Amino acid sequence: MRKPVIAGNWKMYKTPKESLAFLDAFLPLVEGHERDEILLFPTMSSLAYAIEAAAGTNVRAGAQNMHWLNEGPYTGQTSPTMLVSIGCRHVLLGHSEPRLYFNETYERVNLKLKAAINHGITPIVCFGEMLAEREDLRTEEVLRTQVQAALRNISASEARRLVIAYEPIWAIGTGSTASPEVAAAAHAIIRHELSHCCGQQTAENTRIVYGGSVKPENIAALMAQEEIDGALVGGASLVPTTFADIVQYKE
Ligand code: PGA
Repeated sequence: MRKPVIAGNWKMYKTPKESLAFLDAFLPLVEGHERDEILLFPTMSSLAYAIEAAAGTNVRAGAQNMHWLNEGPYTGQTSPTMLVSIGCRHVLLGHSEPRLYFNETYERVNLKLKAAINHGITPIVCFGEMLAEREDLRTEEVLRTQVQAALRNISASEARRLVIAYEPIWAIGTGSTASPEVAAAAHAIIRHELSHCCGQQTAENTRIVYGGSVKPENIAALMAQEEIDGALVGGASLVPTTFADIVQYKE
């Protein structure tokens, strides 16, 4: 059984005050909800506030990125030990925005993934093809290459905590969601590659969530696919009632 994960990626939105106002409204709406694991990824300046406000609830807050070293002269970076020190136990890695705008690579994602695992932080690693790659019928090749690079030398026991997000770049923030069938097919490719890298058991146990224009209107159809184990939600996670509607989709 793979417990679904519904995660909100707040990107570069919400000050601490706005984050706390969100949680004030959101936490009562999802109180007692146990079917799905609920995660939020605030920006770094709001993270400690969100973790504290959500303590003792069924909601957890994680970081949108991190460095792989514990400390050093790396301006602008946050280390795994720093995240752990504020009670952070989840991190997004390899999201397409840092890949597209800040030269993030899967070689670095691999180092970050290992560091996260070593520090007891659950990584959510993102994969996804660009529109041109899909149109060139290269989706499978691209996803397999990404998975191989990110998961290089990760053992089955290390991969135990791993969560994967399939986020086709053409669906992020565009309003055009992948159809449930297209998403499920991509998840199957990723799961198959995962079995090569980390074994069959890991592939069967690992949750693969879909991200890209998830809304209250399309979540149920996506979740009806056996292959889809949750959602990573950007824009629609910014409003408490909208995100609560997504979390509480009707099966
Ligand atoms: P979106 O973003 O839901 O706004 O498309 C998803 C993401 O980037 O994680």
